[in-house]
Amino acid sequence: MTIDHTWWKEATIYQIWPASYKDSNGDGIGDIPGAISTLDYLKDLGIDIIWLSPMYKSPMEDMGYDISDYQDINPDFGTLQDMQDLIDGCHKRGMKIICDLVINHTSDQHAWFKESRSSLDNPKRDWYIWKKPRYDADGNRQPPNNWSSYFSGSAWTYDETTDEYYLRLFANGQPDLNWENEECRQAIYDSALKFWFERGVDGFRIDTAGLYSKDQSFADAPIVFKDQYYQPSSKLTHNGPRIHEFHKEMFKKVTSNYDVMTVGEVGRCTRDEALKYVSAARNEMNMIFLFDAIEVGCNPDDKFRYQGWKLTDFKDAIRNQSDFIKGTDAWSTVFIENHDQPRCVTRLGNAKKFHDKSGKLLATLQTTLTGTLFIYQGQEIGMTNLPRSWSIDEYKDINTINYYKAFKEKFGNDKDFEEKEAKLLDVINLMARDHARSPVQWSDAKYGGFSTVEPWMRVNDNYDKINVESQLNDPDSLLKFYQKVLKLRKEYKDLFIYGSFEILDYENEKVFTYVKELPDAKHPNAYVALNMSDDQVDFKPLIEGKFKLVACNADSDEFDEKVLTPWEARVYILE
Ligand code: NOJ
Repeated sequence: MTIDHTWWKEATIYQIWPASYKDSNGDGIGDIPGAISTLDYLKDLGIDIIWLSPMYKSPMEDMGYDISDYQDINPDFGTLQDMQDLIDGCHKRGMKIICDLVINHTSDQHAWFKESRSSLDNPKRDWYIWKKPRYDADGNRQPPNNWSSYFSGSAWTYDETTDEYYLRLFANGQPDLNWENEECRQAIYDSALKFWFERGVDGFRIDTAGLYSKDQSFADAPIVFKDQYYQPSSKLTHNGPRIHEFHKEMFKKVTSNYDVMTVGEVGRCTRDEALKYVSAARNEMNMIFLFDAIEVGCNPDDKFRYQGWKLTDFKDAIRNQSDFIKGTDAWSTVFIENHDQPRCVTRLGNAKKFHDKSGKLLATLQTTLTGTLFIYQGQEIGMTNLPRSWSIDEYKDINTINYYKAFKEKFGNDKDFEEKEAKLLDVINLMARDHARSPVQWSDAKYGGFSTVEPWMRVNDNYDKINVESQLNDPDSLLKFYQKVLKLRKEYKDLFIYGSFEILDYENEKVFTYVKELPDAKHPNAYVALNMSDDQVDFKPLIEGKFKLVACNADSDEFDEKVLTPWEARVYILE
């Protein structure tokens, strides 16, 4: 088998979410110079590419995913010169940098939208999606259809100036751009892409990359949740009729002119549909994020309707992600955390009883899977979800806040509200995006060494125990384990990054065993055994061969060839 070795396939990518990464100027908000000060740390960790979440000018209604100027920097984060220094700082160290490309919507403070909303005949009116109100039987004004926003309530906002509604699938201040308008698309390409490619950015993580083409009927969405009026619109907004035409155009007109990578955020897809975005021959994007693993146990239309999961569900999810590209010319990703997800050691490991051990197991899983690997800030030290004892007021994310408000409006007068509320708070404590957004714990100094003043969001109480500095000084820490397994991934890169994946013990609800393989006798195979339970279990290889242990998270004094201790992870190379 010939492997198509490519830089963006082999890279380990580290996501920086700027507001909570590192504050350099003592204003309590992370910033670009703060990020620059950590580049050597990231290099030592084994990082090849940085993905910087939105650093653009923004009113921050959705923490920068509401951009008011693609060509400028949020002053809290720094200046255009700081950004250039970050780009150059990465390149100097042999690393690359990708940015977030948020082009399904802008902020309502973007100059384009200000013009668009100003009158019905403004030349940019058609750059956004405007519709007339609908009126109910009593003559009350209503939104044009029943689509729900990802952040609760209607997906439409009424604008008095012209007596019309604009579509905004996310926050009020995030109007959706009208990709049907060619002039608008060209402006996006010039302003949001070309501008940054010319400054040396090496690619983009493309936000909501499946949403640009809406079904032009704007019909009501089918009813998914009987207990609410507004309904998820995915059938009419995801993977719409012109979506691939738009991606092809963006690739042809812009991306293909540079040696860059693209990774799309595309949820809600069948395998065939997903492959269209990333098949190499189709020239759209290089890879997309599949949500199978991070959505395990969730209702994908509403993650706060949490259902719970078994290990076999998780195995299904990992298998779906791994098999996705089998027999195709496409490429895929490996990730388990990002700024929209809870912390993996809490959600999938056991942060309370086996913090380091389960964190190391998840590191082993991630670094042995096929695809481009993404790590989220703080994942390498096992940052955890926020404490359950914190009040809802500590949660800052619009998604959580709106959900909680809508819930309170609906059930606030019920006799059993307290009970209902406690249940919701349990789920928020497990699933909210806020868990990924608390400041990075750099040391045991006040505010976790993130800032010298009180940060914009409270630092997790456990910063004195879980922080970068102490883990750098401990040879057995999770951080050091990450360094080690990231190196191992590169040492056996054909096998781990490009190899195929097969589960050996699907029915087992405690242990997850798989082999990585290349159809080539020259290459060894890898055998990975993960005990994802709090129990000790017997261990006997499920296939024959000469096993060489190359990674294990058990202490040397507890290691016993014949048993897997709770959350023990082993990687063998079969010789
Ligand atoms: C997906 C981003 O990851 C998320 O943080 C954001 O709220 C939405 N897209 C809207 O841009």
